[in-house]
Amino acid sequence: MAITDQFQRPLHDLRISVTDRCNFRCRYCMPAEIFGPDYQYLPRKDILDYEEIARLAKVFISLGVRKLRLTGGEPLLRKNLVELISQLAAIDQLEDLALTTNGTALAQQAKALKDAGLQRVTVSLDALDPDIFTAMNGINARPDKTLRGIIAAKEAGLLVKVNTVVQRGINESEVLPLVKFAQQHGLILRFIEYMDTGAAHGWKLDKVVPSSELLTHLKEHFELKPLAPNHPGETAVRHRLAGSDAELGFISSVTQPFCTNCSRARLTADGHLFTCLFAPNGHDLKEVLRGGASDEELAQTLRAIWDLRSDRYSEIRSQATEASHPRPEMSYLGG
Ligand code: GTP
Ligand code: 5AD
Ligand code: SF4
Ligand code: SF4
Repeated sequence: MAITDQFQRPLHDLRISVTDRCNFRCRYCMPAEIFGPDYQYLPRKDILDYEEIARLAKVFISLGVRKLRLTGGEPLLRKNLVELISQLAAIDQLEDLALTTNGTALAQQAKALKDAGLQRVTVSLDALDPDIFTAMNGINARPDKTLRGIIAAKEAGLLVKVNTVVQRGINESEVLPLVKFAQQHGLILRFIEYMDTGAAHGWKLDKVVPSSELLTHLKEHFELKPLAPNHPGETAVRHRLAGSDAELGFISSVTQPFCTNCSRARLTADGHLFTCLFAPNGHDLKEVLRGGASDEELAQTLRAIWDLRSDRYSEIRSQATEASHPRPEMSYLGG
């Protein structure tokens, strides 16, 4: 039976983080000075195994979830991820199974992921220029592997989206080249406004490039045709790039928040459920699960949590919330 929260928002979309580790150190997510050799990642014993994740996913699906997205950290770092994909793909009533990745391990894994039942991948790519890409990922990685990953995923038959976080003075100059790249390869490219997630990266409003500014700039170079939303609560406002298969999306969480229809929940690798990207705390489902709860008891726990949900952080964001609101790191919570 489908459930709704305090604002009548259903629970439709579950994002599952399978690891809080990543091989990149993007400055806006896992800055190397904080995520260094001594950083305490989740202990192995606290990380849900694939059977636990699949069991929870089934219970979420019984409550109306139809879309699952695996995230991290970097999900392709987790061993035998295809095993989890197979288990999830086999669940009745699941309509959409996707994965968010930095693409570095995608070229090797794309075909196996597709064969296991993955439908879509979203690849983060902040720049094509090697120097800018290198500066942003914090480990001197060049874009080649990620680019190969994108092509391999398309060739394997996965539906591919590309995500770019735009930061003022850092990679604005990459916007036009990235759109040309999307045009050339018929890709779906989405520009994300830099968000005040976590506490590690020292977010500042003046580093955000509003989507409206990007759109004005892009319209000087390309003909863009607005597209209707695919579904309520979609994060991106979309445009077709005229004369190509490419599509551009703008995810404007800072300047045009989309909390009103937000039907997304997030499960961390250690089994905590967060009802918002900016929720200060999660609900410990691992304890309930490992405490021997039945599926019905798990469903009851989820119903009670979702029933009370009233999050709409991006809509109420202000200087006061930015400064005082404790929030989890994106690498722990998943994107
Ligand atoms: P589709 O499933 O293809 O519609 O993608 P999606 O937009 O749901 O997921 P994706 O992982 O591609 O999200 C892109 C980015 O949008 C994330 O990395 C976040 O930066 C941002 N985002 C996604 N969901 C939310 C949300 O609920 N709140 C906020 N504030 N940002 C979000
Ligand atoms: N602001 C916006 N997007 C972010 N991501 C990570 N940190 C931030 C942030 N501070 C995005 C990444 C990737 C996804 C996992 O989350 O670019 O697309
Ligand atoms: Fe890793 Fe993605 Fe965070 Fe970059 S944004 S550090 S690739 S999890
Ligand atoms: Fe949903 Fe929270 Fe993002 Fe708003 S800020 S869209 S409630 S996750």
